[in-house]
Amino acid sequence: MHIGLDLGTSGLKGIVIDDTQTILAEANAPLTVSRPHDGWSEQKPAHWITAVDAVMAALRAKTDLSKVQSIGLSGHMHGATLVDKAGQVLRPCILWNDTRSADQAAALDADPKFRALTGNIVFPGFTAPKLAWVKIHEPEIFAKVAKVLLPKDYLRLYLTGDYVAEMSDAAGTSWLDTGARDWSDDLLAATDLGRDHMPSLVEGSEVSGVLRPTLAGAWGLPIGVVVAGGGGDNAASAVGVGVVKAGDAFVSLGTSGVLFAASDAYQPDAATAVHTFCHALPDTWHQMGVILAAADAMNWFAHVLGQAPAALTGTLGEVRAPGRTLFLPYLGGERTPHNDAKIRASFLHLDHNADQATMVRAVLEGVTHAIKDSYDALTQTGTRIDRLIAVGGGSKSDYWVQSIASSLGIPVHLPVAGDFGGAFGAARLGLMAATGAGAEIATLPTIERTIDPVAGLKDDFDAAHARYRNAYLALKGLN
Ligand code: XUL
Repeated sequence: MHIGLDLGTSGLKGIVIDDTQTILAEANAPLTVSRPHDGWSEQKPAHWITAVDAVMAALRAKTDLSKVQSIGLSGHMHGATLVDKAGQVLRPCILWNDTRSADQAAALDADPKFRALTGNIVFPGFTAPKLAWVKIHEPEIFAKVAKVLLPKDYLRLYLTGDYVAEMSDAAGTSWLDTGARDWSDDLLAATDLGRDHMPSLVEGSEVSGVLRPTLAGAWGLPIGVVVAGGGGDNAASAVGVGVVKAGDAFVSLGTSGVLFAASDAYQPDAATAVHTFCHALPDTWHQMGVILAAADAMNWFAHVLGQAPAALTGTLGEVRAPGRTLFLPYLGGERTPHNDAKIRASFLHLDHNADQATMVRAVLEGVTHAIKDSYDALTQTGTRIDRLIAVGGGSKSDYWVQSIASSLGIPVHLPVAGDFGGAFGAARLGLMAATGAGAEIATLPTIERTIDPVAGLKDDFDAAHARYRNAYLALKGLN
């Protein structure tokens, strides 16, 4: 048996699988985000620990955990979890969608060695500029930083007592030499840090440590459970949904929106704002476009209307040519393709006939156009997308998935009901670490349905996308 734990932005999920990868139990604990200022986004690591304890207790209540061999970890990427030399947390974790360090990111990005070594723009959401921000604004905290941990690696510290990171998440810090899969001393020095401040590195499918005996006792697990490296949530989801070879890709409609393509080689093209990171499996990489608000945008609008998102999207009927009303989903800035921390969301072109359905469609179409931006950026880098699978909460809306298929002009595949997300991928990585199995066990799920583009709408979606691009340029001028 193997456990996968996925520390998501809105909740921590646990999953138990057996050796044939059949899911035996699942449990969730909710988490919230604190936004003390515009552009800030934080979570207290203590809440992650409460959540993991609750999830493990719930899993134990559902199934006997005495035969568990491994735990794999997945988590939201880029967060700066700062601990002192006793391993005590120094401040709330600054999350992936926090853009307060835009100035520091621009300054680091202007130093050519960052793009050259990491293969990526230094985005404000990445970890290094956050440390540069803390150094300026909270120097007393910066002085006490002994280790910088990514969110799931703080969970690992709780689980094993060891300071360890893995390649896929480490690639999102702006301190990793992504081609060489090692920390870069030069990049660390540029933010007044050194290798000592970093955890050691393993591959996602390797053993990173052993579960502490006290936790094994408290959670009903045997002694000697290995904890695998795991992956950043996107790489772990890719392992979960079997996207591990060039040509395979997924679109994730979660809090963030991600278009992820596996790659056999390290092929960065930073200027496109496409992210090039290590995959969670040895000797593989991936390219992805990231939009900061996908399901997050729909959830925000549903909250404003005081309704459930599914109730709003479920009554839209057939996908039609996009209307004139546009929504730009930049609630907290945007990464791919704009790298713009200052832009904010907008509705445009509302007329007297605009009603709730008009605006809900505009929100779904706006996220669709943002995914098209990432598709264009990825294909511009030469990334192949032969097969595209949809995952994440938003993929439950056929309307949304068919809008994306129509906009990209390619079919989108939906897996059978089940869970192929980060927790499942993390459990697979645990299985690999415990048994020595390789990428061959990360098979594609059975495809339940394929949603084809609506015939005759490609030109309409392209025209709406062009208006959307122009609207961004006009809004940027207002910043
Ligand atoms: C990826 C990114 C998000 C987070 C949260 O670069 O920032 O997808 O990992 O899911």
